[in-house]
Formats: sequence, C-alpha cells, structure tokens
Amino acid sequence: MTTVLVTGANSGLGTAIVAALLRRGARVVATVRSDDAEHELRAELDRLDGLRAADLADDRLTVDRLDVTDADGCREVAVRHRPDVVVNNAGSALLGAVVDIDDDDARHQLDALVVGPVRLAREAIAVGGCRRIVQVSSMVSDGLVPFTGWYAAAKAALEALSDVWRLELEARGVEIVVVECGAIATDVWQDAGADVTAGGDATTAAGRQRWSTLVDLLEPRFEDPAVVARTIAGAALDDRPPAHVRVGFGSSLPALARLVPEPIRRRIATTLMDLRPR
Ligand SMILES: NC(=O)c1ccc[n+]([C@@H]2O[C@H](COP(=O)([O-])OP(=O)(O)OC[C@H]3O[C@@H](n4cnc5c(N)ncnc54)[C@H](OP(=O)(O)O)[C@@H]3O)[C@@H](O)[C@H]2O)c1
Repeated sequence: MTTVLVTGANSGLGTAIVAALLRRGARVVATVRSDDAEHELRAELDRLDGLRAADLADDRLTVDRLDVTDADGCREVAVRHRPDVVVNNAGSALLGAVVDIDDDDARHQLDALVVGPVRLAREAIAVGGCRRIVQVSSMVSDGLVPFTGWYAAAKAALEALSDVWRLELEARGVEIVVVECGAIATDVWQDAGADVTAGGDATTAAGRQRWSTLVDLLEPRFEDPAVVARTIAGAALDDRPPAHVRVGFGSSLPALARLVPEPIRRRIATTLMDLRPR
C-alpha cells in the first residue's frame, strides 16, 4: 500500500486531498499544526461522503504534527513515516502591494512555501523509499495578478526549483509533479480582500479596491476543493503522471496570456485592475 504524506491537512484543499487519497486506497499521513486542527480534520473526514470506517482506521490514516518551517520537525516526520509520496500542500498567501510588504513577512513566505517544502521532500528522499513529490503550486506563479507579489514569487521559485531538481532526481527514480492550481473555494480567500485593501500604498488604492471587488464577484465560480483534490490524488498515485498539471478556476489563463504580446497583456491587466496612471 502506498503511503502518502500530506501537509496542511486541515485546510480546505488539504482535507479534500486526504479524502481523495483514502478513497483511492492509499495509506495517508496527514500533518497539521495543532490539536484543534486535528479535531477539525477528523470531524470533516467523518462528514464527507464515500469514506468508510475502514478508510479512517489507524492502519490507513495517521495524523501527525508538522510546521514545515521547523527543520527538525521535517526530519522527524520523514524518519517516523518514511512516505512513498509527499504532497506539499501547506501554505499561506502573503498578499498586498509589493511596497507594503516588509522583509520579515517576505522571508517567512519563502520559508513556508519554498524552503520548508523542499526540505521536507529532501528529508523524505534521504530517509529512503520516497519516489514522488507533489508540489501544490498556483497559477499566479506566472506573475499576471497584481497584489500577489511575494506569494507568486514563492510559488514561481518552488516550480523552478522543482523543474531543476526533477532532472537531478531522474537517476534516483524520484519524480516531481507540479500542480498549478487556479482559484479554489477555500478559507484562504476569507481575508484576502481585506488584506489587500488594508495596505498603505496610495498609488494603488483604487487597484487594491478593484482587486477585492473582483474576488467577491468571481468567488462563486472558484473550483470545488474536491475536484482539485482528485487531480492531486492522481498526481500522487497514477502511473507516469505529467510533470506539470493544471486544475481549478482560471488555471489555463497563463498559457493563454503567453500568446499575447507583453505590452497588450499589461494594458489589459492594468485597465482591468484600475492601475492606469491618473
Ligand atoms: N485556495 C486557492 O485558491 C489556491 C489556489 C492555488 C494554490 N493554492 C494552494 O493550495 C494549498 C492549500 O491552500 P488552501 O486554499 O487550502 O489554504 P488554507 O485553507 O488557508 O490552508 C492552508 C493550510 O496550510 C497550513 N499551513 C500554513 N502555513 C504552514 C506551515 N508553515 N506549516 C505547516 N502548515 C502550514 C495551514 O495550517 P493552519 O490551519 O495551522 O494555519 C492550513 O492547513 C496552498 O499551498 C495554496 O498556496 C490554493
């Protein structure tokens, strides 16, 4: 039986990934950061359709603690569970105008979204047995969406690193799959508008307000986490998955945008986001 370790398992997407993997017969190690988060996860799994008591039994589901910024924690979890597959799902989104974000917050974003996930994967490979890493990334990594600067930079770094590392891991037979997600209906969006509009940069105030309005407008169309989770479970368990997979609302936008010359692309984005010079 394949053992899959999923980080951030109490999140909207994380819990859906755990459920999708259990439905596909995997053994799951779900990591969370607190007792409350473990209760939340177990209660949600009990509520979900299609999971039998046997799927949630101790021999199929283990819940452990991990903050991915904790180096010792990553090593200990890897040693304790020796996963066949790691799904790096945990993450937070640092949003706002680039000029409004300070160095400490930026460093923390890179630590949680790049250094931590890569460290966890490295430890799982070092301990032996791990044959696949799934990186949950975002369509914003293409740099098309204002006010996602450090989050986009972190996901772009994770993707670039994964693409390079995939080459180096070929000889070991370890695969890396990058899943570029579009917008998904999870709690991450709850404070997103408020975070962006709260910034102090006067020159982008109208744009930040527009961003928040557009998110409110589009939110009903964001993808169901269960749909994205099925794709991620496939990335974890299918034979020969592609190196890059796209899923979720708007996830095909970057490929379409690449067909448009940069000045036109910028004009469309700044007009749409109310960022034209006044
Ligand atoms: N929702 C979207 O539209 C969307 C789009 C593209 C990509 N994604 C990606 O999907 C993944 C899951 O996001 P989500 O939407 O489900 O967000 P979410 O509901 O905010 O959940 C984030 C999860 O990550 C955990 N987490 C945050 N920092 C952590 C750390 N340092 N160590 C360990 N766990 C940590 C959180 O734990 P706590 O509960 O303890 O804070 C929570 O379980 C993220 O990688 C995100 O970037 C989401």
